[in-house]
Amino acid sequence: MNANELREAYLSYFEELGHRRLPSASLLPENDPTVLFTTAGMHPLVPFLLGEAHPLGRRLTDVQKCLRTNDIEEVGDASHLTFFEMLGNWSLGDYFKEESLAWSYTFLVKVLGVPPGRLGVTVFAGDETAARDDASAGVWRRLGIPEERIFFLPRADNWWGPAGHSGPCGPDSEIFVDTGAPDHPGCRPGCACGRWLEVWNNVFMAYEKTASGDYLRLAHPNVDTGMGVERMLTALAVLEGGGAGGDVFQVDTLRPLVERLERLSGRAYARATRPFRVAVDHLRAAAMAIGDGAAPSNLEAGYVVRRLIRRAVDAGRELGLQEPFCSRLGEQVVEVFAPVYPGVAGARERIITLLDEEEQRYRRILTEDAPRVKKVIRTLRDSGASLISGEQAFDLYETYGLPLSLTAALAEEEGLRVDEEGFERCYAAHQALSRQSAEKKFKGGLADHSEASTRMHTASHLLQAALRQVLGPAVHQMGSNITPERLRFDFSWPERLSEAQLQEVEERVNAAIQADLPVTMAIMPLEQAVASGALAFFGEKYGEQVKVYSIGQFSREVCGGPHVDHTSVLGRFKIIKQEAVGKGVRRIRAMLEDGGD
Ligand code: SER
Repeated sequence: MNANELREAYLSYFEELGHRRLPSASLLPENDPTVLFTTAGMHPLVPFLLGEAHPLGRRLTDVQKCLRTNDIEEVGDASHLTFFEMLGNWSLGDYFKEESLAWSYTFLVKVLGVPPGRLGVTVFAGDETAARDDASAGVWRRLGIPEERIFFLPRADNWWGPAGHSGPCGPDSEIFVDTGAPDHPGCRPGCACGRWLEVWNNVFMAYEKTASGDYLRLAHPNVDTGMGVERMLTALAVLEGGGAGGDVFQVDTLRPLVERLERLSGRAYARATRPFRVAVDHLRAAAMAIGDGAAPSNLEAGYVVRRLIRRAVDAGRELGLQEPFCSRLGEQVVEVFAPVYPGVAGARERIITLLDEEEQRYRRILTEDAPRVKKVIRTLRDSGASLISGEQAFDLYETYGLPLSLTAALAEEEGLRVDEEGFERCYAAHQALSRQSAEKKFKGGLADHSEASTRMHTASHLLQAALRQVLGPAVHQMGSNITPERLRFDFSWPERLSEAQLQEVEERVNAAIQADLPVTMAIMPLEQAVASGALAFFGEKYGEQVKVYSIGQFSREVCGGPHVDHTSVLGRFKIIKQEAVGKGVRRIRAMLEDGGD
C-alpha cells in the first residue's frame, strides 16, 4: 500500500461513518498561542475541541501535515521523523470510546488487513487526575484483544496533551503492531527494543488543562485520534515481510528523496543511512514549512527551519556533497506533495529559493567564518587558555553560526578542548528563553478567546480589506498571529510599502471602525462563499461548509471566528511597523488603542 492509498482508504472509511473531510491546515499555526508548528491533527481544531461549534458538524476527519522537533536528535535511525503526516478522526462531543475503538479496530483489521493477532493495545492506568480506563479495556476485550495484549500504563505513556502548555487533553489508548521480534521478558508496547510499532492513538479528550495547571472537565468530551501515515505504511510493509527492517524511509513519500540524494551524492543509502536520513527528513520538513510561509531566521519557527537546513547541509557534507544540493531535494519534495497538499505547487519557487539561499549562506559561514573562528581560538590559546568555556563556545556559535562539532574540531587542531556540556547548558538556556518569549508573545492568543484577542482578530480582517483597497487584489493573507496586545499579519506583496500607503491603510481601517459596522456570520458552502467574494486563506482549515464573517460591506472572509459584533469596540487601530518576512511576503505589526465597550 502506498501513502495515497492509505490516505484515501482512511478518509473515505470515516466519511462513510458520517465524518466530514477537512483539508490539511498550515504547518504554521494560525492564532495559536502554544506552539511554533502544527504538531498534531488536533491542533487546528483546538477551539472546536474546547466547545466552539464547527461549521461541518461534530464528526471530522483529515490528513494533517505535522512538524515536531522534540526528537530531532533521534532522526537518523529507522523510525524518527520531524515532518510527518497524521491521519485523524474527531468526535466533537459526539461518539466516545466504544465507537472510536471499534472503528479503529475494524479499519485496521478489515480495511488494512492487519492480522488481529498482531495487535497490542495500551490503556491509561489511572492517577489522581483521572481514573483507570476500564471502559476502554472492556471495549478491547469485547473486540477480541486477549488480556495479555492489553497493557495498563501510566500517564507518561497513556495521557495525551495538551499540545502546548494548556488546552484539551485526556487519557488515551494506543494501538501497536507486533513485529514479533526481538522477544524478551518484560517487553511491552513502548519498549525501546522496537518490537512494537505504534500506529494509532485514540485520545479521549475529556479535560482542559488551564494555564495555571488545573484540569477542568469539558462539558462535552471529545475523541481525537491520530495515525502516523509513515508509521502505518512501515508496519504494513513489515507485516507483508518486505519492510526492510521497519525502515520508515522506504515509504513512497520519502523513498524518492533518498534516491535523489543517492544520485546527487553518488553514494549508496544502505552504506550511509544516518546522514541520508537526516538530510532527507530535515529538508522535507524545511521545504514544507517554507511552503506554508516560514523562512529561515534566528527567531522562533524561522530558527527551527534554519537549524533543519543547516543540519541537512552538515549531513550532505558528510556524504561528500561540496556543491549546494538542498534546493534539489526541495524540488523533489514539491513533486511528492504537490498532488497531496494545496499550496505546495504554488510555493515551488519560494521553497527552492529559500533553501538555496540558506544553504549558500551557511556554506559561506563554513568557508569564510570558520577561519575567523580559528583566529579567535588562536588568540585564546595564545592567552594561555586550554579550554574554551561553554559561554565562549556559545558566543562563537551565536556570532558565526558554526555548529559545535566544527568549533570543537577547529579547537582540537589548535590543541584546545571545548566544554561541550557547558555549551549545551547555554544552548538549552537560550532555547528556554526564546520559547518563553515566544510563549509570552503568544500568551492569551486567540485560543483563549479573550475579548482583547477577539477585537484584534476582527482588526486583522479590516487590515486585510484595507490593504487590498490600497494595494489591489494581489494582496493575500499568508499568515497571522494574534495576542491581546498586538496583531501580526503576513501578506503577499513584493515590495516595501511607502509611508503614504501605510497611512492610507491605517486611515481606512480607522474609518471602518468609526463607522461602527456590524459584524455578521453566515454558514454556507465554500464555493458559494468564494463566489460571494469572501476571501479564503488557503492555510486555514476549510471543509465544504464554512463560516463567512462580513464586516458591513468592507470585508468578507471565510474564518472560524470568533469576532466582535460591531467595529466601534476596536478603538483606534495603529500600525507599528512593517517588515519583510521572505521573498514576496511582508508583515505588518499593529495594535489597538482604547478598545473595549
Ligand atoms: N493528538 C494525538 C497525537 O498526536 C492523537 O491525534 O497522538
